[in-house]
Amino acid sequence: MDLKKLFGFENKNVVITGAASGMSKSACELLLELGANVYAIDINTIDLPVKKALKADLGNLAEIDKVLPELPSNIDALFLCHAIAGYKGKELEVQLVNFFGQKYLTEKLLPRINDHGSVSFISSVGAFSWEQNYANCLEVINITDWNEAVSWYKNHPELIANSYVFAKQCMNSYVNSKCMSPEFIDRKIRINAINPGYTLTGLSDDFNKSSSATGNAEEGKAMIENMFINGWNGYAASPKDMGYPLVVVGSSICSYMSGQCIYIDYGLTSSWRHQALINSK
Ligand SMILES: NC(=O)c1ccc[n+]([C@@H]2O[C@H](COP(=O)([O-])OP(=O)(O)OC[C@H]3O[C@@H](n4cnc5c(N)ncnc54)[C@H](O)[C@@H]3O)[C@@H](O)[C@H]2O)c1
Repeated sequence: MDLKKLFGFENKNVVITGAASGMSKSACELLLELGANVYAIDINTIDLPVKKALKADLGNLAEIDKVLPELPSNIDALFLCHAIAGYKGKELEVQLVNFFGQKYLTEKLLPRINDHGSVSFISSVGAFSWEQNYANCLEVINITDWNEAVSWYKNHPELIANSYVFAKQCMNSYVNSKCMSPEFIDRKIRINAINPGYTLTGLSDDFNKSSSATGNAEEGKAMIENMFINGWNGYAASPKDMGYPLVVVGSSICSYMSGQCIYIDYGLTSSWRHQALINSK
Protein backbone atom coordinates (compact mmCIF):
# COMPACT_ATOMS: atom_id res chain seq x y z
CA MET A 1 0.00 0.00 0.00
CA ASP A 2 1.26 3.49 -0.87
CA LEU A 3 1.09 5.40 2.42
CA LYS A 4 1.38 8.81 0.80
CA LYS A 5 -1.71 8.02 -1.30
CA LEU A 6 -3.53 6.81 1.82
CA PHE A 7 -3.04 10.21 3.51
CA GLY A 8 -3.94 12.00 0.29
CA PHE A 9 -1.74 15.07 0.79
CA GLU A 10 0.71 14.51 -2.08
CA ASN A 11 0.89 17.70 -4.23
CA LYS A 12 -2.14 19.05 -2.34
CA ASN A 13 -2.30 22.61 -1.00
CA VAL A 14 -2.37 22.75 2.78
CA VAL A 15 -2.56 25.86 4.97
CA ILE A 16 -1.37 25.54 8.56
CA THR A 17 -1.05 28.15 11.33
CA GLY A 18 1.31 28.23 14.31
CA ALA A 19 3.96 26.21 12.46
CA ALA A 20 6.99 27.92 14.05
CA SER A 21 6.77 25.71 17.13
CA GLY A 22 5.27 22.80 19.04
CA MET A 23 2.43 20.60 17.78
CA SER A 24 1.92 22.54 14.56
CA LYS A 25 5.62 22.33 13.69
CA SER A 26 5.44 18.53 14.14
CA ALA A 27 2.31 18.39 12.00
CA CYS A 28 4.02 20.53 9.38
CA GLU A 29 7.07 18.22 9.28
CA LEU A 30 4.81 15.23 8.65
CA LEU A 31 2.81 17.10 5.98
CA LEU A 32 6.08 17.89 4.16
CA GLU A 33 7.13 14.24 4.42
CA LEU A 34 3.76 13.30 2.88
CA GLY A 35 4.41 15.56 -0.11
CA ALA A 36 1.99 18.44 0.65
CA ASN A 37 2.48 21.98 -0.70
CA VAL A 38 2.52 23.67 2.70
CA TYR A 39 1.61 27.32 3.24
CA ALA A 40 2.48 28.07 6.85
CA ILE A 41 1.63 31.15 8.93
CA ASP A 42 3.01 32.24 12.31
CA ILE A 43 3.78 35.41 14.24
CA ASN A 44 7.31 34.01 14.62
CA THR A 45 9.82 32.77 12.05
CA ILE A 46 9.06 29.35 10.52
CA ASP A 47 12.25 27.39 9.88
CA LEU A 48 10.84 24.54 7.77
CA PRO A 49 11.20 24.10 3.98
CA VAL A 50 7.57 24.95 3.26
CA LYS A 51 6.25 26.26 -0.08
CA LYS A 52 5.50 29.63 1.56
CA ALA A 53 6.18 30.84 5.11
CA LEU A 54 4.13 33.88 6.10
CA LYS A 55 4.57 36.07 9.15
CA ALA A 56 1.38 37.52 10.64
CA ASP A 57 -0.34 38.20 13.94
CA LEU A 58 -3.49 36.12 13.49
CA GLY A 59 -5.24 37.97 16.31
CA ASN A 60 -5.16 41.16 14.24
CA LEU A 61 -7.80 41.78 11.56
CA ALA A 62 -5.56 43.86 9.26
CA GLU A 63 -2.78 41.25 9.40
CA ILE A 64 -5.15 38.38 8.61
CA ASP A 65 -6.60 40.33 5.67
CA LYS A 66 -3.05 41.03 4.45
CA VAL A 67 -2.11 37.35 4.48
CA LEU A 68 -5.21 36.16 2.55
CA PRO A 69 -3.95 37.10 -0.97
CA GLU A 70 -0.72 35.20 -0.24
CA LEU A 71 -2.60 31.91 0.16
CA PRO A 72 -3.57 29.62 -2.74
CA SER A 73 -6.92 29.85 -4.51
CA ASN A 74 -7.44 26.09 -4.03
CA ILE A 75 -6.92 24.57 -0.61
CA ASP A 76 -7.36 20.90 0.33
CA ALA A 77 -6.78 21.09 4.06
CA LEU A 78 -6.69 23.90 6.59
CA PHE A 79 -5.13 23.37 10.03
CA LEU A 80 -5.70 26.03 12.74
CA CYS A 81 -3.13 25.46 15.47
CA HIS A 82 -1.86 28.73 16.95
CA ALA A 83 -2.77 30.01 20.42
CA ILE A 84 -1.53 31.95 23.44
CA ALA A 85 -1.93 31.27 27.17
CA GLY A 86 -4.74 32.88 29.16
CA TYR A 87 -3.00 35.71 31.00
CA LYS A 88 -5.03 38.03 33.21
CA GLY A 89 -5.51 41.38 31.49
CA LYS A 90 -5.28 39.78 28.04
CA GLU A 91 -8.80 38.32 27.96
CA LEU A 92 -9.85 40.04 24.73
CA GLU A 93 -6.57 39.25 22.94
CA VAL A 94 -6.93 35.59 23.93
CA GLN A 95 -10.42 35.44 22.37
CA LEU A 96 -9.23 37.06 19.14
CA VAL A 97 -6.08 34.95 18.77
CA ASN A 98 -7.40 31.64 20.08
CA PHE A 99 -10.88 31.64 18.59
CA PHE A 100 -12.38 34.55 16.69
CA GLY A 101 -9.38 35.10 14.41
CA GLN A 102 -9.39 31.37 13.61
CA LYS A 103 -13.11 31.43 12.83
CA TYR A 104 -12.62 34.55 10.68
CA LEU A 105 -9.72 32.97 8.75
CA THR A 106 -11.68 29.74 8.26
CA GLU A 107 -14.73 31.56 6.90
CA LYS A 108 -12.62 33.74 4.59
CA LEU A 109 -10.86 30.64 3.20
CA LEU A 110 -13.90 28.36 3.05
CA PRO A 111 -14.83 29.31 -0.55
CA ARG A 112 -11.30 28.28 -1.58
CA ILE A 113 -11.43 24.90 0.15
CA ASN A 114 -12.04 22.13 -2.37
CA ASP A 115 -15.01 19.78 -2.10
CA HIS A 116 -14.09 16.88 0.24
CA GLY A 117 -11.49 19.10 1.89
CA SER A 118 -10.97 19.43 5.64
CA VAL A 119 -10.71 22.00 8.42
CA SER A 120 -8.99 20.84 11.61
CA PHE A 121 -8.42 22.79 14.83
CA ILE A 122 -6.31 22.27 17.93
CA SER A 123 -8.56 22.84 20.92
CA SER A 124 -7.72 21.59 24.46
CA VAL A 125 -8.76 19.39 27.37
CA GLY A 126 -9.35 22.82 28.95
CA ALA A 127 -12.58 22.92 26.91
CA PHE A 128 -13.94 19.86 28.73
CA SER A 129 -17.69 20.25 29.43
CA TRP A 130 -17.92 22.80 26.61
CA GLU A 131 -21.49 21.55 26.04
CA GLN A 132 -22.58 23.41 29.19
CA ASN A 133 -21.52 26.75 27.68
CA TYR A 134 -22.92 26.01 24.20
CA ALA A 135 -25.57 28.75 24.16
CA ASN A 136 -23.03 31.46 25.02
CA CYS A 137 -20.52 30.09 22.52
CA LEU A 138 -23.17 30.09 19.77
CA GLU A 139 -23.69 33.81 20.32
CA VAL A 140 -20.04 34.46 19.35
CA ILE A 141 -20.14 31.88 16.57
CA ASN A 142 -23.10 33.65 14.98
CA ILE A 143 -21.18 36.94 14.76
CA THR A 144 -19.32 37.45 11.49
CA ASP A 145 -18.17 41.06 11.86
CA TRP A 146 -14.84 41.53 13.69
CA ASN A 147 -15.79 44.78 15.47
CA GLU A 148 -19.14 43.35 16.53
CA ALA A 149 -17.28 40.42 18.07
CA VAL A 150 -14.96 42.79 19.94
CA SER A 151 -18.01 44.63 21.34
CA TRP A 152 -19.65 41.32 22.31
CA TYR A 153 -16.54 40.23 24.21
CA LYS A 154 -16.29 43.64 25.93
CA ASN A 155 -19.92 43.31 27.01
CA HIS A 156 -19.37 39.83 28.48
CA PRO A 157 -16.39 40.15 30.84
CA GLU A 158 -17.77 37.37 33.05
CA LEU A 159 -17.66 34.88 30.15
CA ILE A 160 -14.15 35.74 28.98
CA ALA A 161 -12.66 35.95 32.50
CA ASN A 162 -11.55 32.33 32.10
CA SER A 163 -10.16 33.38 28.76
CA TYR A 164 -8.28 30.32 27.46
CA VAL A 165 -11.09 27.95 28.47
CA PHE A 166 -13.87 30.06 26.92
CA ALA A 167 -12.01 30.40 23.61
CA LYS A 168 -11.49 26.63 23.43
CA GLN A 169 -15.13 25.97 24.40
CA CYS A 170 -16.15 28.23 21.50
CA MET A 171 -13.86 26.20 19.22
CA ASN A 172 -15.44 22.87 20.15
CA SER A 173 -18.91 24.41 19.85
CA TYR A 174 -17.95 25.76 16.42
CA VAL A 175 -16.93 22.29 15.22
CA ASN A 176 -20.12 20.79 16.60
CA SER A 177 -22.42 23.45 15.19
CA LYS A 178 -20.84 23.85 11.75
CA CYS A 179 -20.39 20.26 10.59
CA MET A 180 -23.98 20.13 9.27
CA SER A 181 -24.11 23.75 8.05
CA PRO A 182 -24.69 23.97 4.28
CA GLU A 183 -21.34 25.69 3.66
CA PHE A 184 -19.63 22.58 5.02
CA ILE A 185 -21.95 19.61 4.43
CA ASP A 186 -23.15 20.62 0.93
CA ARG A 187 -19.55 20.50 -0.29
CA LYS A 188 -18.54 17.61 2.00
CA ILE A 189 -15.97 19.70 3.82
CA ARG A 190 -15.12 17.98 7.09
CA ILE A 191 -14.53 19.94 10.31
CA ASN A 192 -12.96 18.46 13.45
CA ALA A 193 -10.76 19.33 16.41
CA ILE A 194 -8.23 17.52 18.52
CA ASN A 195 -8.28 18.33 22.24
CA PRO A 196 -4.74 17.74 23.56
CA GLY A 197 -3.77 17.06 27.13
CA TYR A 198 -0.64 18.40 28.82
CA THR A 199 2.13 18.65 26.20
CA LEU A 200 5.64 20.09 26.51
CA THR A 201 5.86 22.82 23.85
CA GLY A 202 6.74 26.48 23.40
CA LEU A 203 3.59 27.32 25.37
CA SER A 204 4.52 25.36 28.50
CA ASP A 205 6.34 28.18 30.28
CA ASP A 206 3.48 30.61 29.57
CA PHE A 207 0.96 28.05 30.81
CA ASN A 208 3.02 27.68 34.02
CA LYS A 209 3.12 31.45 34.58
CA SER A 210 -0.53 32.05 33.71
CA SER A 211 -1.69 29.22 36.01
CA SER A 212 -0.19 30.87 39.09
CA ALA A 213 -2.02 33.79 40.71
CA THR A 214 1.33 35.56 41.17
CA GLY A 215 2.75 34.65 37.74
CA ASN A 216 5.33 32.39 39.38
CA ALA A 217 6.31 29.74 36.82
CA GLU A 218 7.48 27.18 39.42
CA GLU A 219 4.23 27.49 41.39
CA GLY A 220 2.16 27.17 38.19
CA LYS A 221 4.22 24.18 37.02
CA ALA A 222 3.62 22.38 40.33
CA MET A 223 -0.12 23.07 40.04
CA ILE A 224 -0.29 21.81 36.44
CA GLU A 225 1.79 18.74 37.18
CA ASN A 226 -0.39 17.95 40.15
CA MET A 227 -3.49 18.10 37.97
CA PHE A 228 -2.21 16.49 34.77
CA ILE A 229 0.75 14.33 35.70
CA ASN A 230 0.96 13.18 39.32
CA GLY A 231 -2.61 11.98 39.56
CA TRP A 232 -2.54 10.62 36.06
CA ASN A 233 -0.22 8.73 33.69
CA GLY A 234 3.01 10.26 34.98
CA TYR A 235 4.33 11.94 31.83
CA ALA A 236 3.57 14.82 29.52
CA ALA A 237 2.96 14.39 25.78
CA SER A 238 5.46 15.48 23.15
CA PRO A 239 4.48 17.76 20.22
CA LYS A 240 4.43 14.74 17.86
CA ASP A 241 1.87 12.98 20.08
CA MET A 242 -0.54 15.73 18.98
CA GLY A 243 0.80 16.95 15.64
CA TYR A 244 0.74 13.53 13.97
CA PRO A 245 -2.86 12.61 14.94
CA LEU A 246 -3.92 16.09 13.81
CA VAL A 247 -2.55 15.34 10.35
CA VAL A 248 -4.42 12.02 10.34
CA VAL A 249 -7.69 13.78 11.27
CA GLY A 250 -7.32 16.21 8.36
CA SER A 251 -6.27 13.48 5.91
CA SER A 252 -8.17 11.11 3.59
CA ILE A 253 -7.74 8.40 6.25
CA CYS A 254 -10.56 10.09 8.19
CA SER A 255 -12.68 10.77 5.09
CA TYR A 256 -15.98 9.92 6.88
CA MET A 257 -15.28 11.80 10.12
CA SER A 258 -16.74 15.24 10.78
CA GLY A 259 -18.02 17.26 13.75
CA GLN A 260 -15.72 15.49 16.22
CA CYS A 261 -13.80 16.95 19.16
CA ILE A 262 -11.28 14.23 19.90
CA TYR A 263 -9.51 14.15 23.25
CA ILE A 264 -5.88 13.06 23.00
CA ASP A 265 -5.02 12.95 26.68
CA TYR A 266 -4.26 9.34 27.55
CA GLY A 267 -7.78 9.02 28.93
CA LEU A 268 -7.58 11.92 31.41
CA THR A 269 -10.96 13.41 30.48
CA SER A 270 -12.49 9.90 30.48
CA SER A 271 -11.36 9.61 34.10
CA TRP A 272 -13.05 12.95 34.86
CA ARG A 273 -16.22 11.68 33.14
CA HIS A 274 -15.96 8.40 35.06
CA GLN A 275 -15.79 10.28 38.37
CA ALA A 276 -18.72 12.51 37.44
CA LEU A 277 -20.80 9.50 36.39
CA ILE A 278 -20.17 7.50 39.53
CA ASN A 279 -20.74 10.58 41.71
CA SER A 280 -24.09 11.22 40.04
CA LYS A 281 -25.40 7.76 40.96
N1 LIG B 1 0.96 22.59 25.19
C1 LIG B 1 -0.11 22.12 25.78
O1 LIG B 1 -0.06 21.54 26.89
C2 LIG B 1 -1.45 22.27 25.11
C3 LIG B 1 -2.55 21.58 25.65
C4 LIG B 1 -3.78 21.69 25.01
C5 LIG B 1 -3.90 22.45 23.86
N2 LIG B 1 -2.82 23.12 23.36
C6 LIG B 1 -3.02 23.87 22.11
O2 LIG B 1 -2.10 23.38 21.14
C7 LIG B 1 -1.94 24.37 20.12
C8 LIG B 1 -0.48 24.45 19.73
O3 LIG B 1 0.24 25.02 20.81
P1 LIG B 1 1.63 24.44 21.33
O4 LIG B 1 1.37 23.89 22.68
O5 LIG B 1 2.25 23.61 20.30
O6 LIG B 1 2.41 25.80 21.60
P2 LIG B 1 3.60 26.55 20.82
O7 LIG B 1 3.79 27.84 21.54
O8 LIG B 1 4.79 25.66 20.73
O9 LIG B 1 2.98 26.81 19.39
C9 LIG B 1 2.04 27.83 19.17
C10 LIG B 1 2.44 28.62 17.94
O10 LIG B 1 1.45 29.63 17.73
C11 LIG B 1 2.10 30.82 17.35
N3 LIG B 1 1.27 31.98 17.65
C12 LIG B 1 0.92 32.44 18.89
N4 LIG B 1 0.18 33.55 18.76
C13 LIG B 1 0.07 33.80 17.44
C14 LIG B 1 -0.57 34.83 16.69
N5 LIG B 1 -1.22 35.84 17.28
N6 LIG B 1 -0.51 34.77 15.33
C15 LIG B 1 0.16 33.77 14.70
N7 LIG B 1 0.80 32.79 15.38
C16 LIG B 1 0.75 32.80 16.72
C17 LIG B 1 3.40 30.81 18.16
O11 LIG B 1 4.38 31.69 17.61
C18 LIG B 1 3.79 29.34 18.09
O12 LIG B 1 4.62 29.07 16.98
C19 LIG B 1 -2.57 25.63 20.68
O13 LIG B 1 -3.83 25.81 20.08
C20 LIG B 1 -2.72 25.34 22.16
O14 LIG B 1 -3.77 26.07 22.74
C21 LIG B 1 -1.61 23.05 23.97
